[in-house]
Amino acid sequence: MLPVGRKPVVQYVVEELNRVGMNRLLFITGPGKTSIENHFDLNLELTQTLREDGKEELLSALSFERAQVQYFYTRQRQLLGLGHAVMCAEAYVGNQPFVVALGDSIIGKNTESRIVERMTNCFRENEAAAVIAFEEVPREDVFQYGIAKPKQKGEVFEVEDLVEKPTVEEAPSNLAVAARYVLAPSIFGALKQTKPGAGGEIQLTDAIRKLLQDGSKVYGVRLGASEKRYDIGNFGSYFRAFTEFALADEKFGPELREYLKELIDADPS
Ligand code: G1P
Repeated sequence: MLPVGRKPVVQYVVEELNRVGMNRLLFITGPGKTSIENHFDLNLELTQTLREDGKEELLSALSFERAQVQYFYTRQRQLLGLGHAVMCAEAYVGNQPFVVALGDSIIGKNTESRIVERMTNCFRENEAAAVIAFEEVPREDVFQYGIAKPKQKGEVFEVEDLVEKPTVEEAPSNLAVAARYVLAPSIFGALKQTKPGAGGEIQLTDAIRKLLQDGSKVYGVRLGASEKRYDIGNFGSYFRAFTEFALADEKFGPELREYLKELIDADPS
């Protein structure tokens, strides 16, 4: 629920998915995250008051509430990693493909990214078991990500192997898993056979690797130039994301720019 600019991060993710036609969303949250459910509730009283007061700008900020989205919620009762969180969705998903979007990453500044649409197309065209979004990261940062060994170059490529949080020496490339996945339901069987990996957690990357080893096809789709990934998972990248979004704000961006210049000029160290 951390805000970036005017909205909580999770709202950007919901808007991104809704824009490409995903309208049934299951949130898998940890303990104490009831604020997410409250945020996505319809607040009819507030909407009515804003309408009566002619507060159109604030009203449009609530338009996501009226989008045709059905929200579902479940809890990951033990924090055993991303793979374990995905397993919590099994009863909900059933026997159909689904999208996983990590709630700590915003893709593109104005939620205009259609990466998930390109990924679902790739999934269908190639009868893949998994399609993953990738971004290039500096070589020295590979230890923070799942890293691909691609079979070919290009925007869309087949994945030969995947490794979670490798050392710089081990990393087969600098193509990092970028927070969006399209998965076949066969992932659940693979997850059940997956032992804790990096960080002692059940890693989704390891389960996808199992699908590869069983002969299934896994594809990668690169984020486009306008689809920068904003990582909200640590303070450094969160501060950068907030600053960039705040500077892009139509109303307050220009004065923030001046303010930052003044601050830096006053203390250039
Ligand atoms: C997770 C995944 C990793 C991926 C990253 C960013 O790591 O396990 O493969 O590269 O998200 O999407 P985490 O950030 O939870 O450590």
